[in-house]
Amino acid sequence: SHLAPFVMVLFGGAGDLARRKLLPALYGLYRSGLIHQDFQVIGLGRSERGPEEYREVVRQAVNQYFRVPVDDEDGLQSFCNKFEYMSLDVRDSAGYQQLKEQVEMRERESDIPENRLFYLAISPQLFGEVSTHLRENGLTQGSGWRRLVIEKPFGDDYPSAEKLNNQIQESFAEEDIYRIDHYLGKEMIQNIQVIRFANTLFEHIWNNQYISNVQITASETVGVEDRVAYYDHAGALRDMVQNHILQMVMLVAMEPPSHLKPEAIHEEKVKVLRSLRRWSGTAVDENMVRGQYTGGIQDGKEVPGYREEEGVPTDSLNETFVAGRLYIDNFRWSGVPFYIRSGKRMDRKTTEVVIQFKSVPDNLYFHKDNNLGPNLLVIKINPQEGLSLQINAKKPGTETEVVPIAMDFCHDCGTETPEAYESLLRDALEGDRTYFTHWEEVALAWKFVDPIREAWDRSEASSLCFYEAGSTGPKEADGLLQQDGTQWHLTE
Ligand code: BG6
Repeated sequence: SHLAPFVMVLFGGAGDLARRKLLPALYGLYRSGLIHQDFQVIGLGRSERGPEEYREVVRQAVNQYFRVPVDDEDGLQSFCNKFEYMSLDVRDSAGYQQLKEQVEMRERESDIPENRLFYLAISPQLFGEVSTHLRENGLTQGSGWRRLVIEKPFGDDYPSAEKLNNQIQESFAEEDIYRIDHYLGKEMIQNIQVIRFANTLFEHIWNNQYISNVQITASETVGVEDRVAYYDHAGALRDMVQNHILQMVMLVAMEPPSHLKPEAIHEEKVKVLRSLRRWSGTAVDENMVRGQYTGGIQDGKEVPGYREEEGVPTDSLNETFVAGRLYIDNFRWSGVPFYIRSGKRMDRKTTEVVIQFKSVPDNLYFHKDNNLGPNLLVIKINPQEGLSLQINAKKPGTETEVVPIAMDFCHDCGTETPEAYESLLRDALEGDRTYFTHWEEVALAWKFVDPIREAWDRSEASSLCFYEAGSTGPKEADGLLQQDGTQWHLTE
């Protein structure tokens, strides 16, 4: 087993991400015995707090955000007892000496070998500086392992990402850097490669001979929420496409890896991005759509348009929706469009991948009474988790009527599925980088995104489409598929 005692140093220890996701995830792992039970956590933050006060923060976070009600008070108590707190100005080198003493003290007291997980749940602007301080103050040297976990966004274009990466790599080796893309922690995303490579059924027809197109949707009902400062600059392209959407493209399109080690998988994923056709200039207008929501009705409630949201400039050109037609120029995928879309304030929350297979020759069952559909394989990622296969079959009781039917597999219809963060945190503690993003993936994803961004910035308002809150997005996004004689498939 790879389980080992460790100290976790949690930057942003009382912040939003820590409270909502990380603390509940760590608790889940502790509760189910999936991590070594000898560990200590040092939470860091700007405010002054006593240890008991911080443990109270931890307790509340778990009570409020763990995926099921917590009934084991004693267990929660001993979990909370593993937490210490230290206030640290992350920009001030001197504080790191004190942090080092804290870490070493915990290690001595609890007899923990020098295994250290540094989790940076703080503003990405600080990633570089924090790594440098950790190294300069001797925290990254020790007899055990040291790992750095960082959240997105990793830079906001290729040059800034490269600069950040160079700075981090002065302190941590690539194999010690765990770049989070929380989509990779989702059960059904991890399942894509299993469905493909553990069955004979699909893989033989997983190519341009049999697949007509691929559709990837990640739609949300929430608006910009309280993240205007970040989001109005980032936009949906950087926020969702550069990472989550392209990760899904890679998993659907990659060749079978030679084995299941992270290096082999990264290698195949990276090849997909190398073959991904880059859009720039006028090709951006032809293949990419950007949209922004206007006011509308959602779940029976009136909601404001993006420009009316608090803090958003009234003339903001930021996109809250992106759709695109992508091509992967290799043997397997030549000519097969990958349609992608993602947006906020849409009609529903859903993440799914639809594989549309080519139609059969139309001389037998295509006639006016029939309503044949294409064969579809739908991989449902969120909120439903499962697979659905649409095939055509005879309508019972009729003589010649053929209709599409769906074979449905519901992976987990309850709420017991561990959250993405549980699985990712566990992997990081075990040293398994499979579901983290490699620098090369990040770099190539930016190289795809940057020229699109540039074209949009240059075209200013003219390339921005509008869609009503609560709708399925701008009609231009439907137009992309209509041009090719197809449409977005409405599943469920
Ligand atoms: C995050 C984005 O990475 O993913 C958010 O920054 C978005 O804007 C979120 O809401 C969506 O994640 P999920 O797991 O709810 O699909």
